Amino acid sequence: MDPERLDQIARLPKAELHLHFEGAAPPDFIRGLASEKKVDLSEIFNPDGSYAYRDFVHFLSVYEAATSVLKTPKDFARLTTALLEECAANDVVYAETFVSPEFCGGGDVGAWREYLHAIQEAADAAERDMGVTLRGVVTCIRHFGAEKAKATAQCAAETAGDWIVGFGMGGDENQGHQRDFKWSYDCAREAGLKLTTHAGEWRGPQEVRDAVDDLGVSRIGHGVRVIQDLATVDYLIERDVTLEVCPGSNVFLGVYPSLDQHPIEKLRERGVKVTVSTDDPPFFHTTMRQEYANLAKTFGWDEEIFSQINQTAMDAAFCDDATRDAIRKKLERT
Ligand code: ADE
Ligand code: ZN
Repeated sequence: MDPERLDQIARLPKAELHLHFEGAAPPDFIRGLASEKKVDLSEIFNPDGSYAYRDFVHFLSVYEAATSVLKTPKDFARLTTALLEECAANDVVYAETFVSPEFCGGGDVGAWREYLHAIQEAADAAERDMGVTLRGVVTCIRHFGAEKAKATAQCAAETAGDWIVGFGMGGDENQGHQRDFKWSYDCAREAGLKLTTHAGEWRGPQEVRDAVDDLGVSRIGHGVRVIQDLATVDYLIERDVTLEVCPGSNVFLGVYPSLDQHPIEKLRERGVKVTVSTDDPPFFHTTMRQEYANLAKTFGWDEEIFSQINQTAMDAAFCDDATRDAIRKKLERT
């Protein structure tokens, strides 16, 4: 594909469903906060200034170290603006971001409300200035355990509404089971929240099936390893589950050696609902524009396929229907 054509595709309007809030923090932003707060974080950066980690588990600990300098509601408000500037620079018109009350007041509902208020205020201002709509998915962290997740779910339930629209789980998939978090998911569902969880990024098809059967999620973060068992792939189709696929993240973390060996195209061709996201863009040296360009280059995806991907994303988005319709109109205006 010639560079001009790739550039055209990279600039299409986009919806992104899988974007970790703290994972969207550029290294310069975190370095700036660390120096303001006189915290030495030098060990989490490479000499060129990028984040330094060896593997997925080390990534999670570097992520938590970076997050440790986000201390006040104002810090989170500043991050919201930075995140939305990056969305706008990548033509993203709608994004859902995973926010963890564990990092915003330690799971205390009163503190969480203050952080959320600051985030929402910054998001509203950015929506007015930059035209990007953001919604929040409260996210528990698997390796922090099921008890902490209960407090997170209660924070989610207490603040469920127009802005906090979903509940999810990230963290180390190799620890415990999806069913350990059933209480938290039931609590979130009863509060009217829509549900997603990370599964099938590191573990295989059984984990993906457990996510659907044990937690009742309508979306799955990643889910790509489901390709190892076609019966489970078909189960996802039957249950109308949407995958939040993050190809660049999967390649950077070594889930697949290269994009041409990534199963997104096979899953799409078989009829699975797939969408495209960045996960933690500065950690994985990616952007939404790059994801689109790379998919076009590798699989020959054109405007029509990206339009389908965005429609799938908006069908599966957790926002209310008025917002969904307004965003659909923006996405059609190519
Ligand atoms: N938290 C941030 N990024 C993550 C990922 N890719 N998988 C699981 N948890 C995460
Ligand atoms: Zn993720």
